[in-house]
Amino acid sequence: MAPPSSEEPAAASGAGAISKVLVVIAMQTEALPLVTRFQLVEAAAEFPKGAPWTRYHGDYKGLHIDLVWPGKDPVLGVDSVGTVSAALVTYASIQFLKPDLIINAGTAGGFKARGAGIGDVFLASDVAFHDRRIPIPVFDSYGIGARKTFETPNIVKELNLKVGKLSTGDSLDMSPHDETAILSNEATVKDMEGAAVAYVADLFSTPAIFVKAVTDIVDGEKPTAEEFLQNLISVTMALDQAVMQVVDFISGKCISDL
Ligand code: ADE
Repeated sequence: MAPPSSEEPAAASGAGAISKVLVVIAMQTEALPLVTRFQLVEAAAEFPKGAPWTRYHGDYKGLHIDLVWPGKDPVLGVDSVGTVSAALVTYASIQFLKPDLIINAGTAGGFKARGAGIGDVFLASDVAFHDRRIPIPVFDSYGIGARKTFETPNIVKELNLKVGKLSTGDSLDMSPHDETAILSNEATVKDMEGAAVAYVADLFSTPAIFVKAVTDIVDGEKPTAEEFLQNLISVTMALDQAVMQVVDFISGKCISDL
């Protein structure tokens, strides 16, 4: 991940204590336990008129936490999951809130062949896309968009989180093409937002970490959608716990301490 630029707040350059943390979450079910946990309140609308994006905010252990989720699709009324909404809300939040650190938290599919199990929580070491195929030299790498995430060796050491590569695409299921790309990305977990959030965070030199809890085993026997829905609530609790531990760890620290 690109180093913070000199125009960033002191915390972003590693010099001062982190004060503003932005949590980006795609689904309401994943977001609400954290809103309760951190006693956040919904902010008056300041995102552009018409956008369903929602922000909760509050102070917790010396940090100002903003939690944003892209809200419900205005027509269909379901959570606005996927890369487009995630990138838009991350962009708007960085511009408006100027966070020192972004945490993209959410659920993911896991690969048992790579050691993932239901309820495991992973910190992503790398992110990449698996459904952006552009078979022209250099555009191919742009499409894949592989990048290392901001390194947090002390969080990894202190908290009992697994570490693995994350592959992102706009589908819950996995086509044969996706499977080949995910294997090539050496991913242990698969989601629908991470690489998009990472792209935007990198554009604006904002450190970002990715906390992903496994709801379904992609290389298992159960149909993905069924297993995902079956485990969503219980795994969200594991996610909530892990994000709280990460935030507790961050409290009082500098970016360079992570
Ligand atoms: N989120 C939870 N499970 C997922 C999967 N299998 N693919 C993409 N995103 C997910």
